[in-house]
Amino acid sequence: MEKKQTDNTKLQKQVKLLIWSVSAILAVVLLITVFWFVGQEMAAEDFDQGNGLNQEMYQDSIPPADFPPLDTASDLWTAQDLSLVSTDEKERVEYGRELIVNTSNYLGPRGSVAQITNGMNCQNCHLQAGNQPYGINFGSSWSTYPKFRPNRPRSESSEDLFMRVSSCFERSLNGTAPAKGSKEMQSILAYISYVGRNVPKGQKAKGSGVYELPFLSRAADPVRGKMIYAKKCVSCHLENGEGQLAADGKSYQYPPLWGSHSYSLASGLFRLSKFAGYVKANMPQGVTYQSPKLSDEDCWDLAAYVNSQPRPSKDLGKETPLLEEKLFDYPFGPYADGFSEKQHKYGPFKPIKEKNKL
Ligand code: HEC
Ligand code: HEC
Repeated sequence: MEKKQTDNTKLQKQVKLLIWSVSAILAVVLLITVFWFVGQEMAAEDFDQGNGLNQEMYQDSIPPADFPPLDTASDLWTAQDLSLVSTDEKERVEYGRELIVNTSNYLGPRGSVAQITNGMNCQNCHLQAGNQPYGINFGSSWSTYPKFRPNRPRSESSEDLFMRVSSCFERSLNGTAPAKGSKEMQSILAYISYVGRNVPKGQKAKGSGVYELPFLSRAADPVRGKMIYAKKCVSCHLENGEGQLAADGKSYQYPPLWGSHSYSLASGLFRLSKFAGYVKANMPQGVTYQSPKLSDEDCWDLAAYVNSQPRPSKDLGKETPLLEEKLFDYPFGPYADGFSEKQHKYGPFKPIKEKNKL
């Protein structure tokens, strides 16, 4: 009897143990299942997020869109061959070219000849020494200067090549021009005249100057421009737009787009149409008129962003155009046409152009 009782208690104990073990195992299995599900959910979320990120990275890493060539003509202007230059012109023409390419080494803040410019080279804008189609080349410089400016006072009614080059020294290089009779000025004029002498007087060379980008129907948007700048331009021209000096510290590897060392408010590039057209055909570096990588919208918005950043001002003084001669995107009032300064700076330009025909 006693033995039976102990057997019973033993059995009860064993059953209890079994129940506990089973419950414990069940509990563990349940927990594992719950964790597994939660884990799955979280993993799925991670994946979603990761996917989001990846998608963004993917979008950044897609090769930039390719746009059709801006011009497919085979007869765009090319510079007159430098190897054919006559011996009496040779020295001046070659020195002139050197001054256009490495302006700052001679005339920049640490220049060997004079310190009269901001550190940029003419070639930073006039690409390939002024020979690149739609890279503000000098194709029409010899053939179309002096230019008649009917609306200017008599003393300025004819702008010759010396005046035009001086204007870039003062406005784009934010400095002073070498004297007319100086070796430097005479050489620059000799070079520009030489390369363009294969264009008949009075004719405009194909692909010269800046590409004319079609207008947007809206105003250009600096906020959108800033976003594009961060993706497409910042790696070279930097976040503060100040560019990067070359290793020798004398000129720029990547020239400044704004700030105290950049072109002034009076430079041609400060006009939105010129900036946008220049960028369309030439930037980011490596792009040419044959392989644009930015949409027209992107270029206009970039122009609005870059040209709303601080830069040197310039006393426009006597060279300020008369009201009637102000171009559609000349960004300084007053105007005779009733459109605001803001619209003259950012657009929309179509209505202004239609009213003024300028
Ligand atoms: C910041 C950019 C920039 C720099 C730097 C610059 N220029 Fe210019 N230059 C321009 C722009 C913009 C125009 C106007 C182009 C247009 O209207 O089609 C221009 C026009 C000219 C023209 C008239 C071209 C033509 O055929 O109508 C000459 C010549 C010229 N520059 C010479 C120079 C020289 C020489 C230097 C260096 C001392 C220089 N530029 C530096 C932007 C620049
Ligand atoms: C890979 C480097 C690189 C990138 C990216 C780049 N640039 Fe440039 N940019 C240059 C260089 C180099 C020059 C001068 C070219 C020369 O001297 O031959 C230049 C010149 C310029 C100039 C004329 C000179 C000046 O300083 O004003 C403008 C305007 C310009 N870039 C705008 C842009 C814009 C806008 C973007 C973005 C869409 C951009 N660049 C992207 C390298 C770059």
